[in-house]
Amino acid sequence: MNTQSLRISIKALIPALALSLATPAMAQFAKPEDAVKYRQSALTLMGAHMGRLAAVVKGEVPYNKEDVVRNAAIISTLSSMPWQAFPAGTESGKTPGKNDALPVIWTENAKFKSAADKMQAAVAELNTAAQSGNPENLKKALGATSQTCKACHDDFRKK
Ligand code: HEC
Repeated sequence: MNTQSLRISIKALIPALALSLATPAMAQFAKPEDAVKYRQSALTLMGAHMGRLAAVVKGEVPYNKEDVVRNAAIISTLSSMPWQAFPAGTESGKTPGKNDALPVIWTENAKFKSAADKMQAAVAELNTAAQSGNPENLKKALGATSQTCKACHDDFRKK
């Protein structure tokens, strides 16, 4: 591709990019239940990889630094994903199928966001602990991360 045509194609891309950045979260999902499915999928995977680390901490699976680092990195990526998938109108009872999101997520949204931030901060610590290669550090950081999961579930997830 020559410089001229590259310049033209970039020019063509910019309005599309600006539009996608300006689009509200809901527009990323065709239907409210798609948002629910998206967030539940990310949370399910997060739970699965937390479970793998828990098995190591409990001694059910031998400690292997490489696996621990990889699982922590996956949790880190996943931990940023669910929060964009809580558009208004997607609380429990408003969508078909399983949905455990309490309405308080939207009436106390700052508190919800702060709970998500705390979890992401704990996950950053979890990654540091994983990279240290020290099983004791992993145990502490995993416990602290689980506490942040529970804290949000206690307030914002249907029992
Ligand atoms: C900021 C709040 C918040 C934090 C932090 C949080 N969760 Fe959740 N979680 C929720 C909500 C709300 C639901 C219910 C979502 C729904 O049903 O749409 C949920 C549901 C789940 C589910 C069930 C998904 C499904 O398929 O129904 C799992 C598993 C889960 N969370 C795991 C975790 C783990 C593991 C962590 C910590 C690493 C965590 N969550 C942190 C709010 C949170």
